[in-house]
Amino acid sequence: MRVLYLNGPNLNMLGVREPAVYGKTTLEDIELQIKERASQSGIEVEFRQSNHEGELVDWVHQARGTSDAIVLNAGAYTHTSIALRDAISSAGVPTVEVHLSNVYSREEFRHKSHIAPVCVGVICGFGMGSYLLALEAVAQYTKNVVAKP
Ligand code: DQA
Repeated sequence: MRVLYLNGPNLNMLGVREPAVYGKTTLEDIELQIKERASQSGIEVEFRQSNHEGELVDWVHQARGTSDAIVLNAGAYTHTSIALRDAISSAGVPTVEVHLSNVYSREEFRHKSHIAPVCVGVICGFGMGSYLLALEAVAQYTKNVVAKP
């Protein structure tokens, strides 16, 4: 099984960015942990980050036929990007939306996700745990839903 982790704008700044909200863990720390956990389960993980909406759209398209699932932290594009939502629908690759923070306990503009309706589920509020839980979620989803005839 192959899982593509995509990270959107400003997530390259984790570690220095608003540590009271996002903690001190860097994106590289998260990638290492995910890859370690994935290898224990025989899952292949690719991890990418971009600050550019179009690049994220391209990567979602490319996942079609090359990845079994996408774990997507779209950052602020979650709340603004219809293009990303359409990309997820177009590609048809099961996608889990993740957030480090609990977006529902924050500003009201973070309560709206354009991508959640086209994702198989949403995990938020557990810091790096959200990324780890998403790995478990896509493994279960692929086994239970996608594998059925
Ligand atoms: C975030 C939440 C978003 O609202 C915000 O714009 C981010 C990070 C999170 O992981 O908690 O960039 O996606």
